[in-house]
Amino acid sequence: MTDALIELNGITKVLKGQEQPRTILDGVDLTVLRGESVAIVGRSGSGKSTLLSILGLFDRPDQGTYHLVGQDISRLPERRAARLRSSHFGFVFQRFFLLKHLTSAQNVSMALVNGQGWLPRRQRRNRVMEALDQVGIAHLAKNRPAKMSGGEQQRVAIARALVRDPQVLLADEPTGALDTETGTAVIDALMSATTRGCGLVLVTHDRDHAARMGRTMSLVDGVLTERVPV
Ligand SMILES: Nc1ncnc2c1ncn2[C@@H]1O[C@H](COP(=O)(O)OP(=O)(O)O)[C@@H](O)[C@H]1O
Ligand SMILES: [Mg+2]
Repeated sequence: MTDALIELNGITKVLKGQEQPRTILDGVDLTVLRGESVAIVGRSGSGKSTLLSILGLFDRPDQGTYHLVGQDISRLPERRAARLRSSHFGFVFQRFFLLKHLTSAQNVSMALVNGQGWLPRRQRRNRVMEALDQVGIAHLAKNRPAKMSGGEQQRVAIARALVRDPQVLLADEPTGALDTETGTAVIDALMSATTRGCGLVLVTHDRDHAARMGRTMSLVDGVLTERVPV
């Protein structure tokens, strides 16, 4: 069995607007192993979010191959892609997207209700509390977003991503709206997933946060290269 969760080979994405077609991703190769954490850095507009959208099966490449846990999913009907999205991936964005009239526990629970068929109430509760505990905010289970700091809200969003036990966590500038200290707690929460074998791909502008990942890849004009530590 392969230890690679994700294997991209020669992924190319071209935007065909009214003007000239533009190459957004240009032959991207990327492997993410079980338990591995990878930072993606690059200027605004360099294609980072596009790459994450392709990884998370929200978007499709024009060329190249995508293997997920050894399975070729390069060309997949949308219905199967949607199923893989909810069974294999957790997503965290710069904005938290919490429902403000629900408590933390209820927000996390929504991911189970919407994603995994029916679970007995007690089992659902246990998994929600475990996810909140994993990111260090079990004590805030009954709080609503308005009563929490930005960092705490983002950790609720991470718990919501983790509660389905994803194989890969995709985070697009999750600390972009947070100060440095709160951002650190958010990175801790993301890293805790990798100790359970989850793969983590983190898009970030923050050098310190990137340095905490196992390795850093740099995206320049759609070309992804390994950044060698100096
Ligand atoms: N739906 C879209 N329509 C037009 N242009 C887009 C669209 N999505 C992305 N782009 C363009 O593709 C390039 C890469 O965008 P993006 O992946 O969001 O970069 P990043 O996340 O690194 O800032 C940018 O030049 C952006 O303007
Ligand atoms: Mg982006």
